[in-house]
This record gives sequence, structure tokens and C-alpha cells, in this order.
Amino acid sequence: MRVNPMWTLNTMVAVLLQGAAMADADTSERSLGGGQVRNNCNCGRINKSGGRIVGGSNTLVNEYPLIAGIVNRGMPDFIFCGGTIITERHVLTAAHCKPERSSQLLSVVLAEHKVSSKTESKTTIIDVTQFIIHEVYNKTGNSENDIALLVLASQIPLGKNIGPACFPKANLNIVGQKVRVIGWGALHTNGPQPDVLQKVDLDVQPTSACSKVYKGITEGQLCTYTLRKDSCQGDSGGPVIWRDPGTNRYTVVGIVSYGYGCAEPGAPGVNTKVSAYRDWILQKIQQTVPGAAICPTNAIPTEEWKFPPDPIAYYYLHCVLYGGIC
Ligand code: ARG
Repeated sequence: MRVNPMWTLNTMVAVLLQGAAMADADTSERSLGGGQVRNNCNCGRINKSGGRIVGGSNTLVNEYPLIAGIVNRGMPDFIFCGGTIITERHVLTAAHCKPERSSQLLSVVLAEHKVSSKTESKTTIIDVTQFIIHEVYNKTGNSENDIALLVLASQIPLGKNIGPACFPKANLNIVGQKVRVIGWGALHTNGPQPDVLQKVDLDVQPTSACSKVYKGITEGQLCTYTLRKDSCQGDSGGPVIWRDPGTNRYTVVGIVSYGYGCAEPGAPGVNTKVSAYRDWILQKIQQTVPGAAICPTNAIPTEEWKFPPDPIAYYYLHCVLYGGIC
């Protein structure tokens, strides 16, 4: 059988590239991109060089650039709620994180890790100028529409350790999949808050699993339940993220909202389903900082990923395989 040499080379390149992707051990965890398709926006990255929430583990320093801690102004060491960076001027959080006293001034802490340490990570603190809660939050007394958008006084310095989450598509259905929750919330019901940012992986349940336990559950909520694992007091408002296998980036799919105790057997966690509030979020962004933009999850294949790869790499590979000056 005659083999087309070009075809052989293409196949070899493909195999080599595939091998390289696999050798880039556990890219899913490292989230440096490297999925089948590339995103057009630098969102949902995690940093890993080389694992409370209840039943979770410590995060690495600046592992999740998308996390924001919400604090009272001048009190950066007490993070009472979490949030997710979604644009260079906006942080997504829960409506119930809004302090009772409307005059209470707030800030967000970015690139935080171990709260008590002043050296291990360089944090950025930015004042919150507007706390926009959903117009029909908690109308029925069941904490429905528990969503809010924080507008920041100045631009977030985006970089390696601070960056936005990817924004979900409408009607994203991830029932049966794993999501990750991160936060400085209590380690167990009525327990202490940790010093170091925690992470935990939870299973997304059908909405009906939450309706069986809680009143007034809507399709705007994302139900999570995993034995002995949960978010807890202080995690509220914080990110529930999902690794998009297409882009290998993290998308913010939920906002921690409430639960009966924490990790109680039979009591799921209730989160606000971000994809159900796309239009509300986009409208508020537009009304507050018109130039600000979310990072869409819609993965757009870029030049970079067209096959064959760029000519220099191609030449080099050919050279290595078949000889030449290289
Ligand atoms: N409402 C809590 C807060 O304000 C979050 C509770 C989450 N609870 C749970 N069991 N998943 O921090």
C-alpha cells in the first residue's frame, strides 16, 4: 500500500500534539486552556504550579483569580460573603449579602488567599459604589432571585492573579455534573471560618431534589448535594464554577445562596443559577459601566488552533523527523 507522505506527517503531527496535550498532565485541573477550542477572552483561568466550606480543602495561593471577598470598608480581614469577578468593574454576588443598613460602606478584596498573612499574596482592595439587588429578590419570603451585582469604584487590575470567570450561555444544563465552590465560609454548621480559601467539589442535582426539601424553589436555582460536602455560612455570594470541557476554563454557573445547616444529610445547597439571570446581569452592566464586558463562554476557535499548526513549528517538526538544518 502506498502511503501519502503528507498524510503520514499530518498524522504524526496530530499524534504528537495529542501526546503533548496529554503530557501536559491534568490540564483540566491546571486550566491553562488547552481544550479543543479556545476562548476569545481570558476568563476562568486557574493557577496551579504542580487541595472549607465543609469537607473541602485548602486552595493554593491565587489558584482562583476570579474570587472576590466582600468586606466592610476598612475591615479587610473579615470576609463576610464571596463574589465572582465578571467584568473589570463588576462582581457578582448574592442579594442577601447586602448589609441591612444601606449606609454601610463595602469593599472587595481581590487576590486574597490566607487572610491573616500580609506577605504571601499581594491583595487589591477596591471600594463598592453600588450594590444592585434583584428587583424581586425574596418577594415570597423564599430567598428567590438571590442575586446582586456590585459596581466597583475603579478598574480591577487584571493579571495573573486577578481575572474574570467565564460567563455561561443561556439555558446551560449541568445536572449530573460536578461543580466547584470556593469560599472562606464556615468549616461546619456554626463552625469557625478558615484562614485559607477553601474549595470543594459538589454534584449538581435536579431542581426537584431541592424542591423536596425547601419551599418555593424555582428554575432560577441550582441545587447541589454531595454527602458530607457543602458550602456554609460566609460562602454566600461566592462562586459555584464549572469547568467547561470545551474550553477547559471555569464558568460561573452559580451563586451560593442558602441551605439547611451545612452538609446535613438530605439537605442540599441552594444556589442562584447564573444562566437564568443572563439578561438581568447584562442589562445592569450596560446601565452602570456601558463599556464593561463579560467573557462569553461561547468558545470561538482561533487561528492558533487551526490545523496544521504554524509554519515554523511545522518546519521544525518536519526537520526533526526527516532531517535538515534545525
Ligand atoms: N446563607 C449562607 C451565607 O450567608 C450560605 C449558606 C450555604 N449553605 C449551605 N448549606 N449550602 O453565607
